[in-house]
Amino acid sequence: MARDSFSNKFGIIAAAAGSAIGLGNIWRFPYVLGENGGSAFLIFYLLFIIAIGVPIMVAELIIGRRSRTSVFGSFKKLRRDKPLFHLVGVLGLLTAFIILSFYSVVAGWTANYTYLAITNSLADKSPEELNLYFKEFSSSVILPIIYMIIFMTLCAFVVIGGIKNGIEKYSKILMPALLVIIIILSIRASLLPGAIDGWKFLFKPDFSKLNASVILEVVGQVFFSLSIGMGALITYGSYVKKGENLLNIAISVSLADTLIAILSGIAIFPAVFAFKINPDVGPGLVFVTLPNIFNKMIGGYIFSIAFFVLLLIAALTSGVSLLEVVVAYMREHLHIKRKKATITASVLVSIIGILCIIIPSLFDQFDWTSSNILLPTGGIFISIFVGWYIPKSDLYDELSGHGVKHYVFEIIIFILKYIAPTAIFLVFLNNLGAFK
Ligand code: PHE
Repeated sequence: MARDSFSNKFGIIAAAAGSAIGLGNIWRFPYVLGENGGSAFLIFYLLFIIAIGVPIMVAELIIGRRSRTSVFGSFKKLRRDKPLFHLVGVLGLLTAFIILSFYSVVAGWTANYTYLAITNSLADKSPEELNLYFKEFSSSVILPIIYMIIFMTLCAFVVIGGIKNGIEKYSKILMPALLVIIIILSIRASLLPGAIDGWKFLFKPDFSKLNASVILEVVGQVFFSLSIGMGALITYGSYVKKGENLLNIAISVSLADTLIAILSGIAIFPAVFAFKINPDVGPGLVFVTLPNIFNKMIGGYIFSIAFFVLLLIAALTSGVSLLEVVVAYMREHLHIKRKKATITASVLVSIIGILCIIIPSLFDQFDWTSSNILLPTGGIFISIFVGWYIPKSDLYDELSGHGVKHYVFEIIIFILKYIAPTAIFLVFLNNLGAFK
């Protein structure tokens, strides 16, 4: 089967950034940070992005480009003799399914808020009313199901379009537009009376709230936000041409992703404090906070529409990368045509998504477990696999041949061999109370 590929470097970065930037940055990052004490979370977040996020992203891209196949078959293709690692492919598929099923629910909420923005339905609501509205909506059943299915249908359309016409085309223009909107929002939020408390919450170092579970949440958020640990970037890496510098791609994508997450924090927390919202309200945080800013802003109507539309599209480019993992598997290993594979996978995901809507504890469980357990576990195996089981000469061929300096190459391999797996493992142990 002929493999599609990205047309140029900007296309790959845009698509990989499209996968990374999504609800994870704007919905999940602020709410998890809010629940975990603020600034200390942020400091460790940055540390983990640089120390293990970027190297693992490079590792995934290497596996993808060398094997030229998606996550399920890639480990087998590179090391047929190491069957334990073949399970990572299975884990990746499972994780993609689980993430997409609750992700599509939150994307459905976003679609609903897009509709509310267009019809100007939130305009005269007080902070309390906005809070109440979110509670009622998110605990209802029919409307969230309809919006979730609309979202999955959109994902399916893009995935059926294939790489160049689908994924790449959408990501290129819209991600920069999202960046602009968030910058404007964070400026407006910072001008609210009382905004300074939000800045302090984010940036004034306070380690008193730090504990084992906060660190685990940090690691989980790093994996979730960068889309690493389950093979989304193995799959995208398999479409990257030989001459591209993979480290460069990983750094650009991580920078863009982190920038958007921090800016979302700057847009949200000043408003949280200005409108006396509790920073640890959980998954509803963005939805109960930002409409308050729109209501105070000149041109708020237009901004609210633009924001929710772009957030929906950001969710779409991430959802597409999750769906593509499953579809690539079905095409390459079950020999099902792209269209049929996409429809089948979308229907299955929607069914689990409906369960997440009906059973809220399942939603929370999926959200927590996928980020904090499944992705980091995948990350341990991916880094060990690349660090220990791909011949160094091959890694050299993948990295150094493409403009990566020798000492940088050695650092990355060292991190993948020793630092990343040990660090993640220690965070797991620590969370289980091993160091008390
Ligand atoms: N990184 C995406 C986001 O932030 C979510 C995602 C996780 C996508 C894992 C693919 C794989 O929204």
